[in-house]
Amino acid sequence: MELAGSSAIVTGGASGLGAATARKLAAAGASVVILDVQDGDALAGELGGAFVRADVTIEPEVQVAVDTASEMGPLRSLVNCAGIGPPQRTLNRDGTPHDLAAFQKVIAINLVGTFNCIRLAAVAMSRTEELPTGGRGAIVNTASVAAYDGQIGQAAYSASKGGIVGMTLPVARDLASVGIRVNTIAPGIMDTPMLAGLPEAAKESLGTQVLNPKRLGTPQEYADTAVFLLTHDYMNGESIRMDGGIRMAPK
Ligand SMILES: NC(=O)c1ccc[n+]([C@@H]2O[C@H](COP(=O)([O-])OP(=O)(O)OC[C@H]3O[C@@H](n4cnc5c(N)ncnc54)[C@H](O)[C@@H]3O)[C@@H](O)[C@H]2O)c1
Repeated sequence: MELAGSSAIVTGGASGLGAATARKLAAAGASVVILDVQDGDALAGELGGAFVRADVTIEPEVQVAVDTASEMGPLRSLVNCAGIGPPQRTLNRDGTPHDLAAFQKVIAINLVGTFNCIRLAAVAMSRTEELPTGGRGAIVNTASVAAYDGQIGQAAYSASKGGIVGMTLPVARDLASVGIRVNTIAPGIMDTPMLAGLPEAAKESLGTQVLNPKRLGTPQEYADTAVFLLTHDYMNGESIRMDGGIRMAPK
């Protein structure tokens, strides 16, 4: 799928993996809409794109981003990067149970929010002209290796990311008739602001747990994978780990 001349939405595009993907999409000639709850104006300006402040869980806010993208060109790409991952144990150390609202919030943003963006973007994509190569668009979601080897404290996060892996095939099947492909990336430990709180030594120690190469993944490596999945017309219905071969231990 050709990106030049089309528009793209990157949720969570103001930071980390989403920001790197927004840059790569713009470099490939796409008009990029950055959808985020935090400010993405400066990056959007730099990329000649647009920033829409929106929460992935709120339908009318996401719809504004979809409409904005459609005005900039046929919407062909959606990359879902918005996500949160606050840890909490099922049974806290003090014997109290996991806060239920905290669990529900992670599911709402990571899983329901991803689906909300998919369903609204799919309407706009389905109304674009079919490409000469066939198909109309492509979607990339972001799960995590925590979908497969979630650690202590990751019940909510792993459930949300496992849900994304689980819905990848049925959503690809739902959207096949309108020519939209759907794939998911399950990144390992990536060097983004999500890990900003960690001291360098802790990041280095995390890096040594990676099979090969022994370091954290970079946002550019995520962006390369996302663009590969968007543009490769034969990639569909798949979730791929992009993790240097790491298998996470319980903690
Ligand atoms: N960094 C890692 O090690 C890692 C590993 C595996 C998966 N992931 C996943 O990759 C994605 C991107 O993470 P990142 O590391 O770039 O983190 P990040 O914190 O740098 O970026 C996440 C972005 O999502 C935005 N966001 C949060 N809630 C939102 C909402 N309700 N609506 C809209 N935007 C919202 C944030 O404002 C932020 O800009 C997340 O889904 C995360 O779970 C990250």
